[in-house]
Amino acid sequence: MRSRGTKIAFAALVGLSLLAAVFYFYAPGAFFSKGTETPKFRAGPSTELDLGQFFNAYWQRPIPLQGAPPSFFSDKESSLGPDACGSCHAQQYADWKESLHSRAMGPGPWGQIIDLTKQDPAGAISCMTCHAPLSEQSPQVAKAGDADGTLVANGAYDPQLQLRGITCAACHVRGHQRFGPPKAEGNITAKYPAGLPNHGGVQRTPYFERAEFCKDCHQFDPEYSLLVNGKPIQDTFREWQSSSWGKAGAACQSCHMPERRHLWRGIHDREWVKGAVRVEQSVEKNGSGAEGKLRLNLHVINAAVGHKFPTYLTPKIFVRAELLDQSGKALPRTTQEGIIGWDARFEDGEWKEYFDTRVAPGERFSKVFQWQAFEGARKIRAWVEVHPDHFYHVHFYPPYLQGSNLSADGRGLIERALRESGESVYVLYENIVDL
Ligand code: HEC
Ligand code: HEC
Ligand code: HEC
Ligand code: HEC
Ligand code: HEC
Repeated sequence: MRSRGTKIAFAALVGLSLLAAVFYFYAPGAFFSKGTETPKFRAGPSTELDLGQFFNAYWQRPIPLQGAPPSFFSDKESSLGPDACGSCHAQQYADWKESLHSRAMGPGPWGQIIDLTKQDPAGAISCMTCHAPLSEQSPQVAKAGDADGTLVANGAYDPQLQLRGITCAACHVRGHQRFGPPKAEGNITAKYPAGLPNHGGVQRTPYFERAEFCKDCHQFDPEYSLLVNGKPIQDTFREWQSSSWGKAGAACQSCHMPERRHLWRGIHDREWVKGAVRVEQSVEKNGSGAEGKLRLNLHVINAAVGHKFPTYLTPKIFVRAELLDQSGKALPRTTQEGIIGWDARFEDGEWKEYFDTRVAPGERFSKVFQWQAFEGARKIRAWVEVHPDHFYHVHFYPPYLQGSNLSADGRGLIERALRESGESVYVLYENIVDL
């Protein structure tokens, strides 16, 4: 197992995605079947399993092949495609299509996986354990009963389904059996017209409402993963757990799936972030012109983010201020900046931390801007700019594109990903004060 890990660590050197490289290096067995300890979901009420047992089995990834559908299923009920689910569950489908879960096989991941599939199939599968986790999404699967994880061609592979990312079935279907949360308030027959086939009902479990449901893909086990300055690269669940939100039992779903909506808004959504992050500022002015001193205190407060703001090392938030003249033009050399984020980079074969200024729930990032002489200054402009994909745009795709073993398809996709990762930038907050 170690030799494979070393190979991946080397691949990371030439530009593999950080997350999986790390995941795969330290937990290479984690995505293959764990054999007999796996409870069968169809056999009995899943709530008889305790939380840990349930999720160990439910989130075995890749998710084992579903097998043949029950003979009474119609074509629509037999399909694992999100469009089929959407024909009866229109609201969830419309939401999901907007969400990043549906785009988890976009040009960034897919551009790498397309080449990995040829160069290192096990590496490709390790990416897909999070980005396209159904076995039906993979051209190869682990040979049944083979502890070494030998890969064989997958007869059930569906190339179109592969590109649909994290599908409805990944979260809701095991062995063609539907799993879901306890019934919502109101009459279910009002939601689904009488006589609509219902895939033999739904196995309901309260575990769908638990934060542990999201944990497997959004948290690395600190015992088995690489730590950068003592911290796993994905630590969202633990950040949440130790926060007031976690202590109060406000699960990820309570914020990210309000009223069970399937949008999973996050750092890429300006309005959403605005609702959870408060910015405050105050200006102090002493004297004027060449004699004067000017001070701006700016605070970015994590008011309602249930983990660090931001939780990953991929976004950066630039907190900036500058002096403006009468006409609103910036005065040269007056721009100053502070950065919120976790700046860690993979360089020369190892991870290096530059700084970590992420803001824990309830806490604040404070920046003091100072100008000594401010002749000609009439206003101060302060603004907060969010770069959700900063790491990829600046530290990952450019060196990756320098690599020598990219296919033409891979290169085209990564060039698109580089462009798109620069287009997600937005201004969260802006304020211009007269002096
Ligand atoms: C032909 C229509 C149809 C298709 C296709 C379909 N469903 Fe359903 N689904 C239903 C009906 C009807 C119910 C109500 C079940 C009941 O009686 O409790 C339901 C219930 C559910 C529930 C519980 C919903 C609730 O309101 O609590 C989930 C989750 C679910 N389906 C997931 C899926 C997924 C995932 C797919 C695709 C892989 C899918 N369904 C495909 C008709 C369908
Ligand atoms: C443990 C789950 C996990 C694994 C394994 C994983 N990823 Fe990701 N990946 C994520 C999460 C969560 C995000 C979103 C957070 C972020 O942007 O860092 C993400 C984001 C990304 C992004 C940026 C978003 C986008 O769609 O452009 C790329 C590119 C990516 N992953 C590629 C890969 C590749 C390639 C691999 C395998 C070498 C891989 N990932 C393995 C969970 C995972
Ligand atoms: C990342 C995992 C995930 C994906 C992908 C996903 N769901 Fe869900 N779904 C959930 C969770 C978790 C809940 C329960 C949320 C709660 O209780 O707060 C849920 C709830 C539901 C419900 C019950 C809604 C209600 O009002 O009671 C339906 C129906 C459903 N999902 C269908 C779908 C369909 C159809 C898709 C694809 C278009 C889909 N889901 C994709 C995780 C997922
Ligand atoms: C099968 C793995 C998987 C599961 C389960 C999962 N996620 Fe994700 N999630 C991902 C990946 C991968 C991405 C990044 C998609 C991309 O951009 O390529 C992501 C993206 C997100 C984002 C958007 C982040 C952004 O950058 O704006 C949010 C929010 C999120 N997930 C929340 C949740 C919540 C809440 C749950 C539990 C209900 C959950 N996820 C379950 C894999 C998963
Ligand atoms: C109290 C509300 C709240 C809770 C609880 C919460 N989140 Fe978030 N989450 C947010 C907000 C607001 C953002 C946008 C700001 C940000 O990115 O930090 C966000 C962003 C994210 C992102 C985007 C990536 C990033 O770097 O920030 C992911 C992924 C995510 N959350 C996953 C989760 C998971 C998994 C859980 C549960 C363990 C969870 N969240 C719990 C409110 C919440």
